[in-house]
Amino acid sequence: MTERTFSIIKPDATRRNLTGAINALIEGAGLRIVAQRRIRMTREQAEDFYDVHRERPFYGELVEFMTSAPVVVQVLEGPDAVARYRAVMGATNPAQAEEGTIRKLHALSVGENSVHGSDSLENAKIEIAQFFDEDDIVG
Ligand code: CMP
Repeated sequence: MTERTFSIIKPDATRRNLTGAINALIEGAGLRIVAQRRIRMTREQAEDFYDVHRERPFYGELVEFMTSAPVVVQVLEGPDAVARYRAVMGATNPAQAEEGTIRKLHALSVGENSVHGSDSLENAKIEIAQFFDEDDIVG
């Protein structure tokens, strides 16, 4: 089924000029970038976005990191986009990520792991709405 998922190219990747390399992996996996914007995430946006992790020990560090440099927020569209993007990203911890995945190729650590992707279709809708209006998305 054609789906949309939400993606963030994180500060560790934008700092190293990896936006294009990551987009090539996304497109190579058959996903279309139907919306994309480079932003500096505000503290409030990062706190809201990661609200489910508020009680985790790494929450403060995560918010600091996500606001430390620009990020690229994206909407990706394609067949089974949620699962397909998770497969292309690889495991959260790059040490466990499969060969050829974005995180195996580019991530620095479990925190500085280059990309975020929605974990379900339901969360994809919520996350997309946090950063994009329907008019911004051109499928
Ligand atoms: P993401 O998919 O953006 O969703 C939650 C993020 O928390 C995750 O990617 C990691 O970057 C981060 N994270 C998970 N575990 C840790 C950890 N142990 N230390 C620091 N950051 C973490």
